[in-house]
Amino acid sequence: MKILMIGDICGRPGRRIVKDLLPGLRREHGASLVIANGENAAGGVGITADTAEEIFAAGVDVITGGNHTWHNRDAYTLLDAHPRLLRPANYPPGAPGRGVLTVETPAGLVAVLNLQGRIFMGELDDPFRAAEQWVEELRKTTPLIIVDFHAEATSEKVALGWYLDGKVSALIGTHTHVQTADERILPQGTAYITDVGMTGPRDGVIGMDRKAILEHFLSGLPTRFTVARGATQLNGVALEVDGDGRARSVTRIQVLREDAD
Ligand SMILES: [Fe+2]
Repeated sequence: MKILMIGDICGRPGRRIVKDLLPGLRREHGASLVIANGENAAGGVGITADTAEEIFAAGVDVITGGNHTWHNRDAYTLLDAHPRLLRPANYPPGAPGRGVLTVETPAGLVAVLNLQGRIFMGELDDPFRAAEQWVEELRKTTPLIIVDFHAEATSEKVALGWYLDGKVSALIGTHTHVQTADERILPQGTAYITDVGMTGPRDGVIGMDRKAILEHFLSGLPTRFTVARGATQLNGVALEVDGDGRARSVTRIQVLREDAD
């Protein structure tokens, strides 16, 4: 089974490059399933009904989330209404939507589990124990489990990778928007990367216009962030997973495009 995971789609430039390039990437990698993190798909922060639909229409099968999923109020009803739109599973009981999904693909059943870290990200339920419980449950249905771990600290991501080695097919980090070069197959067969990167503007500061961000750093005062323009990038990973759930390969994808909007 071949699976593509697309790094955090940021604003209109991110949605556009996904729309333009995903059909070709899907063909090239023979992917049966495409997952993308979409927590910043709308204006660089949050997700809306329209932006989610645009991403699904571009060929993404499952959209995962993170700390910014909640930014737009209509995301609350959207999460409850759309089974293929996830938010991290370790929010306290009662949060809208769901953090886990089992999806039928032409190559078999795959479970997608979305979790969020706690270091520098605020209080949430323990992602390690949440992962353990969900994985035990999901493995009754399928050994093919893909985890999007939306977290800031590299240590927390590496640790959860080791904790889940042999229990899930892949642990893919999201949230930092900077792709790491540490992709590997862990000893018990779990594909791992600390961060899959960002799909959107290349020349901003993690997707946002650099002028306002620099002004903020220099002045210490709040400034209004907007999505950067100009050249774009698509970041992702291609996974190959055997029927027993063990990963065979993980390959980084980095496409740069010099277009302007
Ligand atoms: Fe995030």
